[in-house]
Amino acid sequence: MSEHKYWKGRNILRVDQFTKADLDWLFAVTREMLFIVDNKLPNTLLQGYCMTTLFYEPSTRTSSSFCSAMERLGGSHHQINGVKYSSVAKGESVHDTVRTLAELFDVIVMRHPEQGIIPNVAEASRVPLISGGDGIGEHPTQALLDVYTILRELERPLNPDLHVVMIGDLKYGRTIHSLSRLLAMYEVPLGFYAPDSLDLPEALSAELAAQTKIAHYASIEDAIKEADVFYVTRIQRERFVNPADYDQLKGSYQVTSELMKHAKPKMALMHPLPRVDEIERTVDTDSRAAYFRQIRYGLAVRMALLALVLGKREPYVSLA
Ligand code: NCD
Repeated sequence: MSEHKYWKGRNILRVDQFTKADLDWLFAVTREMLFIVDNKLPNTLLQGYCMTTLFYEPSTRTSSSFCSAMERLGGSHHQINGVKYSSVAKGESVHDTVRTLAELFDVIVMRHPEQGIIPNVAEASRVPLISGGDGIGEHPTQALLDVYTILRELERPLNPDLHVVMIGDLKYGRTIHSLSRLLAMYEVPLGFYAPDSLDLPEALSAELAAQTKIAHYASIEDAIKEADVFYVTRIQRERFVNPADYDQLKGSYQVTSELMKHAKPKMALMHPLPRVDEIERTVDTDSRAAYFRQIRYGLAVRMALLALVLGKREPYVSLA
C-alpha cells in the first residue's frame, strides 16, 4: 500500500499528523502553485469555494497569506479578526462558533491563544479546520512553509548532514515547536540558543532527542558558525505574565552584519516574522537573508494546502 493518505477533508492541526510522503506530495503541488504566482496565471481551481479566517489573536502574514492563496485560486474569503464584533463577545463557545462557521464556509483557518484548543474543537467542524497557531502550542502551516523554504534556499535534501540552528524564544515560540518536530522526523541535527529561562520545554527536548542529535550553544557566535539554517525568533512578549520579566530579556540577542561574518557563505537566515529587533535591518540586503522570500514560499504552500484539503489535488493512491 502506498504511504499516501487522502488529503481531501483533512484538518491541519499539528505536524505529527504528516508523513514524509505527505510532504513530498504537498511540495510537488507547491511548485505548481509557485508557477501560478510567479506567472500571474489566472486560476479557477477553487472557484465557488469560500474560506473564513477566525483569528482570536493578531496576525498579518498568516491570515493575509491564506486570503491571497484563496484569491489566487479563484476562491473567496471572509475574515473574522476582531472577535469583539462577533457572537464570541456575547459569550458563545468556541465550539459553537466553529460549528456555525462550518455550515457557512468550505474551510476554516483559525488562530487562538489557548494551547490545544484548535485540535480540541476540530470535531465541531464538518469542513477542514486549519490551525493558524494555538497559543504556545503549534503553528503547523508555518513549519511546512519553513521546511519548503529550507529546501528551496539550500537546494539540499533534509537529512543528518544538514544543521539547523534555532534561536530566541524556544519556550513560547510555537513556530519552533512545530519546525523542530518536523525536522526531527528527517533526523536533521538541531542546535539551540536561547536567553536564560526561554529554553525549549523539557518534554519537547526529550521528544526531539529521541529522534535526532541536539546541541545547545552558549554563545550566538558559536551557534551561527555551524548553521546551514539559522532560524531566528522574537521574544513572545504577549506570553509573559509579568511585563518586568520581558523587559529584562528584551534585546538580549541580535543578528548583526558583524555576526553574519561568522556564518557560512551558503546558509539561510530565516525568521517567521514579525521581527522586533532580533535582526538588524542592515542584514536584510545580505543574500543569505531569506525571511522575505520565506513569505512568498508560504503563499504557495498555503495555496497547495487549500487545494489539497478541498480535494482538488489528490495524490495517486496505489491499491497494490
Ligand atoms: C509567528 C506566530 O504567530 O507564531 N508569526 C507568524 O505566523 N509568521 C511568529 C511570531 O509571532 O513571533
